Amino acid sequence: MSKHKHRHIGRNDPCPCGSGLKYKKCCLGKDISDGEKIKDRYLRLYNIRLKEKPDIEGIKKAGKLAIQTLDLVEQNLRGGMTTDEINSIVHEFTIKNGATPAPLHYRGFPKSVCVSINEEICHGIPGNRVIREGDIVNVDVTPILNGYYADASKTFFVGKPGPGALKVVSVARRCLKLGMEAVKPGNTVGDIGWAIQNYAESQGCSVVREFVGHGVGFDFHEPPQIPHFGEKGKGIVLVPGMVFTIEPMINLGKKELRILEDNWTAVTKDSSLSAQFEQTVLVTPEGFESLTPYDLDAPLVPK
Ligand code: MF3
Ligand code: CO
Ligand code: CO
Repeated sequence: MSKHKHRHIGRNDPCPCGSGLKYKKCCLGKDISDGEKIKDRYLRLYNIRLKEKPDIEGIKKAGKLAIQTLDLVEQNLRGGMTTDEINSIVHEFTIKNGATPAPLHYRGFPKSVCVSINEEICHGIPGNRVIREGDIVNVDVTPILNGYYADASKTFFVGKPGPGALKVVSVARRCLKLGMEAVKPGNTVGDIGWAIQNYAESQGCSVVREFVGHGVGFDFHEPPQIPHFGEKGKGIVLVPGMVFTIEPMINLGKKELRILEDNWTAVTKDSSLSAQFEQTVLVTPEGFESLTPYDLDAPLVPK
């Protein structure tokens, strides 16, 4: 890095934002000042806190715990159990590993995990509802470990899924994969949303608008928002060090939702099935790395 604060950047030089594009094709002429560090600029313009090596290591450790928690839930998931039993498993395992479940008391949320069944889109509150064979169950966990947050979810089959369940779960999982593959420096937030929306709608499914992915790591929900719909090339340019979730909520029917009396649970207005997968993703100089990695190509096995 030059010691001169206002080092001249040539039109054909690599853009200082880290996009990998030429300066003239990227930030030239936009509202930036030459030489300002990317980290300072993203904070000033967007309130985005870029993560450095020790932060990334910390989020990755929280992410490993998140995935272990989802694995433990999967092993114990069966027809006849209540959603509160899932809450107990998540809560106890999180605490046992020296972490805190971020959902507990978050804006008044009363439990340690979100469990959303069938037509429930997200933010289901664990309670005495009994899980039945044939249900699809999203489990969304966010441990805080040494002050770092990682956010991940999966939708599981319980027993043998019907054709609608198989379809919406496989489309939702592929949406997450395609969204993640749109993550690289120089691409934009809109590229992620476009990739997801384009695929979901091509399959006759719909994308929920009211809930979006989000920056994560130092806090539960940080800027930027990551909509799962959008237009190519629109929105904030992705730069290395950004950490955010991608968590498409995909409905088998229409995209509209309503919120239940508990003020949390979002359900599809048309009562169609809804599925979601979520990972926490880091933008790297080459593309992306998941900090809550799990296989998005494994055979979708009914449990
Ligand atoms: N884990 C959810 C997300 O992906 C947020 C849940 S907020 C809660 O962003 F309060 F419902 F836990
Ligand atoms: Co999230
Ligand atoms: Co989540």
